[in-house]
Amino acid sequence: MYELALQPDIQEKLYQEIDKVLGNEEPTIDKYYEMSYMRNAVQETLRRHPPVVLIPKMTRTKTTIGSYAVPANTQVYLNAYQVQHDERYWKEPQSFIPERFDTDSEYCMKRHVASLIPFSIGQRKCIGSRFSEIETAMIMAKIIKQYRIILPKDDPKMQTPDILSGKIATINVVTLRPVGLKVELVPRQ
Ligand code: HEM
Repeated sequence: MYELALQPDIQEKLYQEIDKVLGNEEPTIDKYYEMSYMRNAVQETLRRHPPVVLIPKMTRTKTTIGSYAVPANTQVYLNAYQVQHDERYWKEPQSFIPERFDTDSEYCMKRHVASLIPFSIGQRKCIGSRFSEIETAMIMAKIIKQYRIILPKDDPKMQTPDILSGKIATINVVTLRPVGLKVELVPRQ
């Protein structure tokens, strides 16, 4: 929501899509598959702000990871934030660009299978990934249909934000938790 308050043009594109696809109807799973820009925006949110920043793993046997020899019973972390902002796979990684998930987009580069891992990867990947993506899209569709999301006018800190500066957001243990991040919802006419 904060990214959408920062970039009203993206919010407007979402609103236009929601208005066209939903009309006066409630969001359903069929409607979800018709909302391609919304699906892109959810993917981009998970890329730019992975809720689980560090994914802990434990080696069961002696192994190698890249050029590193790792002993058995060692805690290692998949750094979702890092790979999702790696310039080898993501053009302008610090920018919020839903269009990068269009297959014909200039931002859609040839990606490594593990360059987007908000739900981890492999056999223990999150079982709730699809559910979460659909739920997020449906809730956002309902909110954006009824409200414009704006930056709070009475809070100057929110007008010149740097989400990753540590002033507004903080990485807490393994999950990304916004602290003091505010938006305002203005009813649409
Ligand atoms: C945006 C929301 C969510 C995110 C970012 C997320 C992320 C993750 C991550 C990173 C893991 C660790 C996988 C690993 O160790 O390799 C995980 C595991 C898991 N998640 Fe989620 N999750 C989300 C929502 C959900 C929901 C809604 C459910 C249930 C309906 C769920 C159920 C699980 C379960 C059961 C596991 C353990 C899988 C296993 O160990 O085999 N998650 N999730």
